[in-house]
Amino acid sequence: MSHTQPTETPLEDAVPARELSMTVNDRLCRVRCEDRHLLVEVLREQLRLKGTHIGCLNGDCGACTVELNGEPVKSCLVLAPAAEGAEITTLEGLALDRDLDPVQIAFWENDGFQCGFCIPGQIFATRRLLAGNTDPTDAEIRSALAGNICRCTGYQTIVESVRAAAAARRDAPDHVEKGT
Ligand code: FES
Repeated sequence: MSHTQPTETPLEDAVPARELSMTVNDRLCRVRCEDRHLLVEVLREQLRLKGTHIGCLNGDCGACTVELNGEPVKSCLVLAPAAEGAEITTLEGLALDRDLDPVQIAFWENDGFQCGFCIPGQIFATRRLLAGNTDPTDAEIRSALAGNICRCTGYQTIVESVRAAAAARRDAPDHVEKGT
C-alpha cells in the first residue's frame, strides 16, 4: 500500500507579504511586510532608522516612540499596515538638515540623557507638551513624560531639560520645533 506524502507549503509562500507606502522623515518609502509586523520593526530593520529603540515591546518604556501624523505613538504598539499612507517622523527626522531640533538642543545642554536609550520618548513627549503649554510646571512636565522610562538620569535633568526647552520656546516663539 502506498502513502502519499503531504506537500509542505514553504513558510514564505504561506504568509503573504504586503507592500506599504508611508512618508518617513519627509521621504516617500515603500516597504514589504507581513500583517503581523510592527511599525518599529519596519523602521529599524527595513528603513535602518536605528534611532527608534526597542525596549519592552509592550508599550511600557517609550523607547520606540515616533510621531505618526503629528502625534507621538509607541511604534511597538502599531502594526505596520496601520501606518499605510501615514506621515512618520523619527528621531533622525528632527535633525534632517543637521540642525538639532530645539528640544534636542535643550536635552543636550542640560544632560537630559546619559545612555540615550529612552530619548525618543522623552523628546517626542516634550514636543507634544510644549505644543500646547509653553510654561509647564514641574508636575505637568512629570505627568507629560510619564510612560517614558529612564534608567540612568534619575529624571531630574530630564525635567530641567524640558524647562529649558520651554524657556527657549517662550524666548523665540517663531523658532518652533520642526513639524509643530
Ligand atoms: Fe515600545 Fe517599550 S519598546 S514602549
